[in-house]
Amino acid sequence: MIGFLATSALFSLGVSATVYPKVESYSGTTFFDGWEFPVETYDNTTNGDVFWATAANTSLLYVNDANRVILKVDNTSSVVYNEKRYAPKLLTKNVYEPGTVWVMDAVHMPYGCSVWPAFWTQGTNWPTNGEIDIVEGINQRTFNQMALHTGEAGTCTVSNSTSMTGSVDISNCNNDATQNSGCTVLDNDNNSYGEGFATAGGGVYVAEFATDGIRMWFLTRSAVPSSLSVSASSIDTSTLGTPVAEYSSSSCDIANLFGPQRLTIDITLCGDFAGVSSLLAQTCPALVGDATCYTTYVINDGSTTYANAYYELNYINIYSSSSSSSSSSNSTASATTTLTAGVSGASGTAKSSASAASSGAASGAIRQTAGGMGAVALVLGVLGFGALF
Ligand SMILES: *[C@@H]1O[C@H](CO)[C@@H](O)[C@H](O)[C@H]1NC(C)=O
Ligand SMILES: *[C@@H]1O[C@H](CO)[C@@H](O)[C@H](O)[C@H]1NC(C)=O
Ligand SMILES: *[C@@H]1O[C@H](CO)[C@@H](O)[C@H](O)[C@H]1NC(C)=O
Ligand SMILES: *[C@@H]1O[C@H](CO)[C@@H](O)[C@H](O)[C@H]1NC(C)=O
Ligand SMILES: *[C@@H]1O[C@H](CO)[C@@H](O)[C@H](O)[C@H]1NC(C)=O
Ligand SMILES: *[C@@H]1O[C@H](CO)[C@@H](O)[C@H](O)[C@H]1NC(C)=O
Repeated sequence: MIGFLATSALFSLGVSATVYPKVESYSGTTFFDGWEFPVETYDNTTNGDVFWATAANTSLLYVNDANRVILKVDNTSSVVYNEKRYAPKLLTKNVYEPGTVWVMDAVHMPYGCSVWPAFWTQGTNWPTNGEIDIVEGINQRTFNQMALHTGEAGTCTVSNSTSMTGSVDISNCNNDATQNSGCTVLDNDNNSYGEGFATAGGGVYVAEFATDGIRMWFLTRSAVPSSLSVSASSIDTSTLGTPVAEYSSSSCDIANLFGPQRLTIDITLCGDFAGVSSLLAQTCPALVGDATCYTTYVINDGSTTYANAYYELNYINIYSSSSSSSSSSNSTASATTTLTAGVSGASGTAKSSASAASSGAASGAIRQTAGGMGAVALVLGVLGFGALF
């Protein structure tokens, strides 16, 4: 233990930096150049009732008249029972080493009953190589929930402290020990998610993935400094103030628990978090009788339920001081090849979707029985592949 502390202190002295140069910028019509689709055709990791959108779904993935990127749930189709609703999931082509800062500027985040968006990162193997949840919300909540999910190669905990403004809900980051919830920190700012976020004109989420800590900030629109912009060539995290969440390396073995991370943005519906009936009832009408989240919201007409189920993004910028960051996703080429075969084999989506659609409700019930602690945030380390835009 003494050896570990000494090593980690020296290490952080050596590499800790707060200024990071820009390495990638995604906005407007070139936004989609940096991303790829998931290999799976539907949400097979969190039991959400969605088919993942493809490049054919230009009514769900597009750039609007304000030159902002829209990623939205299908709110025009009537979905028949045992089918799913189309929704977006995109993964970066690149992966990012410690020494990286991700910035998302949005004017609208998806929300509404049954809606579960996440802006997050995942290592190659899940949860062994770690997961960082930067933004996650469910249903009609008014606050963002951040989290880490870690494996067995070390320990990681987070406690309430004056070095962050958020409130710790669950302290232990170990995924298995927390029944998939990970260590969660809740933002106390009403504008950090949902209707309040949009009413305030949105804002900027910043996540720093460094060897000495993983930190997240939220700046509501009126508090966004001019130094944070799509064209900013660098970011200095020391200018952002106290983070909402800080997972310090003094209590989290970041070096052993986090591999290179792939950035992911998605919206699922119901499933293991938004669909848990006790959590749903916190901000939406309680389910009635035999009704499930799926039968109440996902099927039939979705125009009212999903009118706010969309991201509207000014930009996503990536800053990094790691020379090996933004390494090509070719590092995963062999896995991708394997998964390609899996895709064609799994094209019987109608069958698998039907069973998964009905089990989405069942799985919610199981989670509730298990205590409904909330917060499963995703996902096996599935490497993105799929058609490119
Ligand atoms: C999800 O589907 C993909 C593609 O078929 C597969 O590679 C992956 O293992 C599946 N994940 C789970 C948890 O079943
Ligand atoms: C999305 O694309 C799929 C084909 O990949 C198509 O069947 C579906 O109708 C599309 N939905 C929308 C809303 O574009
Ligand atoms: C952190 O502080 C909040 C607000 O005071 C409190 O509700 C929560 O229980 C605390 N978390 C832990 C793990 O003690
Ligand atoms: C804002 O948050 C406070 C608690 O911090 C809560 O009491 C209040 O109802 C929230 N307001 C809105 C509009 O959500
Ligand atoms: C679907 O959602 C969009 C916002 O993304 C909204 O402008 C539109 O009115 C909605 N469509 C329907 C049919 O409600
Ligand atoms: C990555 O793979 C693509 C396609 O296989 C290839 O064209 C490209 O040159 C590779 N890039 C690197 C950096 O190896």
